[in-house]
Amino acid sequence: MSESSALPIPASLDETLKLMRARLSHVIPDFEIQAKAEIAHKINLLKREMNAVILGHNYMEPALYHSVPDYTGDSLQLSVVASKTKADIIVFCGVWFMGESAKILNPGKMVLVPSEKAGCSLAEGVTAEDVIALRKRFPGAVVVSYVNTYATVKAESDYCCTSGNADKVLKHLMDAGHKRIVFLPDEYLARNTASEVGVRYFAASDTDENYALLPADEPVVIGWKARCEVHELFTVEDVENIRKQYPDAVILAHPECSPEVMAKVDVAGSTKLMVDYVRDVDAPRYALFTECSMGDNLAAEFPHREMVRACSLRCKHMNTVTLEDTLEALQNLQYQVKLSDDIITRARTPIDRMISIR
Ligand code: 13P
Ligand code: SF4
Repeated sequence: MSESSALPIPASLDETLKLMRARLSHVIPDFEIQAKAEIAHKINLLKREMNAVILGHNYMEPALYHSVPDYTGDSLQLSVVASKTKADIIVFCGVWFMGESAKILNPGKMVLVPSEKAGCSLAEGVTAEDVIALRKRFPGAVVVSYVNTYATVKAESDYCCTSGNADKVLKHLMDAGHKRIVFLPDEYLARNTASEVGVRYFAASDTDENYALLPADEPVVIGWKARCEVHELFTVEDVENIRKQYPDAVILAHPECSPEVMAKVDVAGSTKLMVDYVRDVDAPRYALFTECSMGDNLAAEFPHREMVRACSLRCKHMNTVTLEDTLEALQNLQYQVKLSDDIITRARTPIDRMISIR
């Protein structure tokens, strides 16, 4: 698996500024680049001194994304990097559940998430008690949790998946003969993946009477009700507006968008898939239906590509992680991800399974 390239670590402040200008000058104003370069340089010096690795999710703000991460990527790529790192400290520039996954994969290491407030509406949309209740209601069902869940939920699950391998995990379970697959917490990802793989979908909010009518020998995905507060806001009308204004644009959407939106776009996939597509596939222009820093980051990295800059949907959780916070994270060793041994042990199996199915 390839990680999208972060900048090489520059030796001096001048060099940092030069490299950041080269990437960012058409995306953010120069006075901002100058201020951010000073912080980025301090972070890069400290990072080396402390043998820390910085992982940056594709939704990080451009100045951070293009200056301090050793690796950038989607949830699956960064979990794979976290599972292999030799660094003593992992700084996860992303949201809290991502830091938890890194800790589960590296129980002996210090894992820092620069913002304590970096939550996620999906992770907050389901609890361990919900999973226990679903197992009671659907005995024998295998439970797949999206990686956007907290460790307590993963500990009650059989498998994890990301948007990058949800279809493969589902196919793997069907090939193994599973007929009832609880897939949580994202209603839309569950519905989109079930339809991609050609499996019937049943909402857990539906009645026991309707559930009893499902054929026992056919596979069924049982979905939960949480949604991404960013991706649920994209509408079919938004797609139509882009088509009208930019008829030659290829529209790429994250599968946390509604099935109605997904039916109208050209390409569906994780944030890694979007990076790869914009890098590798020639098109007159690209419109991204996802969190909007992603478009800025791609515009900075691939200046020869024409990105439609119509997005105004920023994830408020990802937005709480800044370069300033990342510097403080290293200086003060904050905020440390702490999980009990029991949760780490139980959550490890579904995460290992997720990493092995790619
Ligand atoms: P990716 O795994 O595609 O990067 O998505 C993470 C996420 O939080 C999407 O909203
Ligand atoms: Fe969670 Fe949505 Fe933000 Fe991703 S974009 S971290 S799914 S709230």
